[in-house]
Amino acid sequence: MNKTTKDQTISRFFDRESKRMSDRQKSSGLPISAMKHVNYLVESNPKSVLDVGCGPGTLLMEVKNKSPKTKVIGIDLSTSMINEASENFKEMGISEGVDLKVVNFKNFNDAESVDGVSMHRVLCCYPDRETLMNKCVSLNAEEIVVTLPRPWLFLRVLLKLFSPIAALTNSFRPYLHRIDDLTNQMKSKGYEWETIDQSRFWMTLAFKRSSSSKSLNE
Ligand SMILES: C[S@@+](CC[C@H](N)C(=O)[O-])C[C@H]1O[C@@H](n2cnc3c(N)ncnc32)[C@H](O)[C@@H]1O
Repeated sequence: MNKTTKDQTISRFFDRESKRMSDRQKSSGLPISAMKHVNYLVESNPKSVLDVGCGPGTLLMEVKNKSPKTKVIGIDLSTSMINEASENFKEMGISEGVDLKVVNFKNFNDAESVDGVSMHRVLCCYPDRETLMNKCVSLNAEEIVVTLPRPWLFLRVLLKLFSPIAALTNSFRPYLHRIDDLTNQMKSKGYEWETIDQSRFWMTLAFKRSSSSKSLNE
């Protein structure tokens, strides 16, 4: 299966999941990892925040709640997710400073740079961690906050067993990325990092452009 087909498999899966995910987040609210994400992102009063794989938009609505002047940009591979997000923002009566679009982040070509980038439970839905993280770096963001599953051995084994079935049946499968690979990649791009939250399954890492790399860019 080539990459395009994989991307289609992912977007179709989340098209089907969009309504359920939106309803669940509306009734039970954001998970703790997303709250930590938002708190970290709004702490520095960012002018703009990009949420990659924004799903039904709940995380961005919380950014708007906490920091109404921040411009929020939500992108997602799935058209139905973006439709849900648009409806949810409409229901909340928020339209100013909100930009939602269907786009694969790997092809995202926005001329404007952003202050903060968020990827909440997205890397686990996409095989190519390196390309997505390089894209974040190319946006010159001060802060990049990423929540991803902890790569426990039993999960890795489970996925290894499931992958051939998923490939054969053209089904969506989650991806586990090694934390070391992620942090080493970001370190090589001039980002320092800290763990801002860790639960049994998820961990949230915040990457900040290091002062030495900032002065090199200025
Ligand atoms: C598990 S959902 C998480 C949604 C939301 N971030 C949340 O935490 O509620 C993952 C989302 O990432 C999107 N996604 C995966 N890969 C993507 C990519 N390369 N570009 C844009 N969106 C992507 C999927 O379509 C899906 O809506």
